[in-house]
Amino acid sequence: MLVSEREQLRANIERQIQDYGNNRSALIPVLQEVQLKYGHVSEYVMQVVADILNIHPVEIYGVASFYSFIGHKQKGRFIIRLCRTISCDMQGKDRVARQLENDLGIRFGETTPDGNFTLEWANCLGMCDQGPAMLVNERIYTQVTPDSVHDILEECRKVFGVHTLQEKEMLCELPTQAK
Ligand code: FES
Repeated sequence: MLVSEREQLRANIERQIQDYGNNRSALIPVLQEVQLKYGHVSEYVMQVVADILNIHPVEIYGVASFYSFIGHKQKGRFIIRLCRTISCDMQGKDRVARQLENDLGIRFGETTPDGNFTLEWANCLGMCDQGPAMLVNERIYTQVTPDSVHDILEECRKVFGVHTLQEKEMLCELPTQAK
């Protein structure tokens, strides 16, 4: 990362911490915002947050490790999280998982080489009666089938092919909504 990029990143984090209050309660919301905006929380970010909040970096690392939605590695633009808890398991999550892996050419825990998609497992998403349930960034999909996987991925791919960068970012940050 270039020095100017680091300065920009640091300025963004300082602004967020100001917004959330310059104390420990800002920690999780700030990490979540960084995750949403940059796709991961780097060691540099943890160090900056630690400096500003006067918390030991090891503690920041512990918090970031505890929450599965905060990642240390660069992830894809679209993070697909498929529920693997029992209701979705019994409603066919394995077939959906296979279709996702086949369509994207990666396994769960991996990111496509073009950096567009990451596949992850999730625990219960609160939609047990409409499983299998899946999150794509913050949008939830229910009753997902292998056929609908294809449509969902196409919908994501269109974002890269057709829309402006600003529209892509808006789509990546859509609020949670049932489909
Ligand atoms: S078990 Fe999958 S949403 Fe609850």
